[in-house]
Amino acid sequence: MVCRIVVLISGSGSNLQALIDKLDRQYGEIVAVLSNRPDAYGLERARRAGINTLVLDHKDYADRESFERAMIARLDEVAPDLLILAGFMRILTTEFVSHFQGRLLNIHPSLLPKYKGLHTHKRALEAGDSEHGATVHFVTEELDGGPLVVQARVPVIPGDTPESLAERVQHQEHVLYPLTMNLFASGRLRLIDGRACLDNKPLGASGIEPERID
Ligand code: GRF
Repeated sequence: MVCRIVVLISGSGSNLQALIDKLDRQYGEIVAVLSNRPDAYGLERARRAGINTLVLDHKDYADRESFERAMIARLDEVAPDLLILAGFMRILTTEFVSHFQGRLLNIHPSLLPKYKGLHTHKRALEAGDSEHGATVHFVTEELDGGPLVVQARVPVIPGDTPESLAERVQHQEHVLYPLTMNLFASGRLRLIDGRACLDNKPLGASGIEPERID
């Protein structure tokens, strides 16, 4: 059975593009792209790829809870096996996260547990870090805190700005996220008893080791 994937975005959607381009169609299909912003450029990318788009503008709802209830209802109609947060800029409540438990992935632009939250590239530069990166993880109630799946490291180069560092990190995100999506879609990656597992074996603290991916 093909894995039904929905990607949630708020902006440019460069990760969405990488997911579209590198999806292994033997295992998965992106059945919809949902945006909370009607003007997100990622919606255009989805339309160009012939993917169904859903827009739920959070500003149309009185509070976070009613916005999320509407999202859950729309998403349940699509019956996703996997939800991929790709630059979706709304904090999700426990209700949403537990509804999609084990089916929810996020990418965060830092080497978690370092730099949860926003402005990660600037914070890594200000701290004088020699390396930075991106992390894919399952989403749990803790913001940017769920079980880690895979990380990519990049060097910080003298003279880097938050923008140049972000570009280097994003390049890696576009490798990591499709890889993770395809592992999940093929059934090899799962959340079991709260732990990220590859081929039924729990992953270590640093996530997937490259030699385990064939
Ligand atoms: C990425 O840097 C991702 O790590 C973060 O949001 C950004 C989304 O960029 N969660 P894009 O919309 O995929 O270009």
